Amino acid sequence: MNNCVLFSIPGNEFLGHSLTELLHAEPGEAIIRHFPDGETYVKVISNVYGKDAVIICSLHHPDNKILPLYFLAKTLKEFGATSVILVTPYLAYMRQDKRFTDGECISSELFARLISGFIDKLITIDPHLHRRSSLDEIYSIHCAVLHASPLISKWIKENIDKPVLIGPDSESEQWVSEVAANADAPFMILEKIRKGDRKVQVSVPEVEKYKDHTPVLVDDIISTAHTMIETIGHLKKAGMKPPVCIGIHPVMASRAYDKLIKAGAEKIVTCNSITHPSNGIKVDELLADEVCKNCFVIN
Ligand code: R5P
Repeated sequence: MNNCVLFSIPGNEFLGHSLTELLHAEPGEAIIRHFPDGETYVKVISNVYGKDAVIICSLHHPDNKILPLYFLAKTLKEFGATSVILVTPYLAYMRQDKRFTDGECISSELFARLISGFIDKLITIDPHLHRRSSLDEIYSIHCAVLHASPLISKWIKENIDKPVLIGPDSESEQWVSEVAANADAPFMILEKIRKGDRKVQVSVPEVEKYKDHTPVLVDDIISTAHTMIETIGHLKKAGMKPPVCIGIHPVMASRAYDKLIKAGAEKIVTCNSITHPSNGIKVDELLADEVCKNCFVIN
């Protein structure tokens, strides 16, 4: 692919290097740094005239990355790049998707408008679509959404003896059942029974049947890890084995990893959509295949 140049926003060099190798693409040369006063400096060194420029930038801690990304994308266009494709394995600002209280900003919509204003195409993995059914509802550019579930199923199949997948609530059933089916594993969904306005009892169905299995919790994002910690508590109470926790996007805010281990997780495994020591499932090839499809000229 010699008509495609790949640039990495600082912090994404590892994935950027891997994609460049997989695609046999030209590594993009640019300087991205800060002036002593904290302002961002960007200089494009590679010749991008008539080429597709791909920028790798997982948007974890997005506020620090958005300005370098904007400056780089606009400068690449000024120097003649045919298109600017953003590969962002973790797409930020997807969770504030409605006004929960009066006066709040719906950041997912504003962020989508901002990105759509300077990027031509976006490639991401399992964005947090909760109240929206598609990124097209908020992004006005072409968006390719990839799914990590086949990679997770494969990892479970190869690494876990007698797994049983656990969904923390009924909303997770669709996703958990798919991962389970592809891993040839059973699954259970925790049942919430409302006992009053403020009291919810959570039960683990068919617990006896799966006591000798390894519970596997799967979620799209591990942020504070509260969702998984709470689920581990229910599994413990039901007398199940310590679970393996799998997350696609290891946001890992506020020492979430340590808290999850302390809560009783046997192991934590994540996809490398965000670089983290828990990365065990690689998304490199999934992304590379999509970049290949989206670059205009492929040699
Ligand atoms: C929620 O809708 C998401 O799917 C995750 O369950 C959630 O973002 C996890 O967040 P935390 O780790 O902070 O509980």
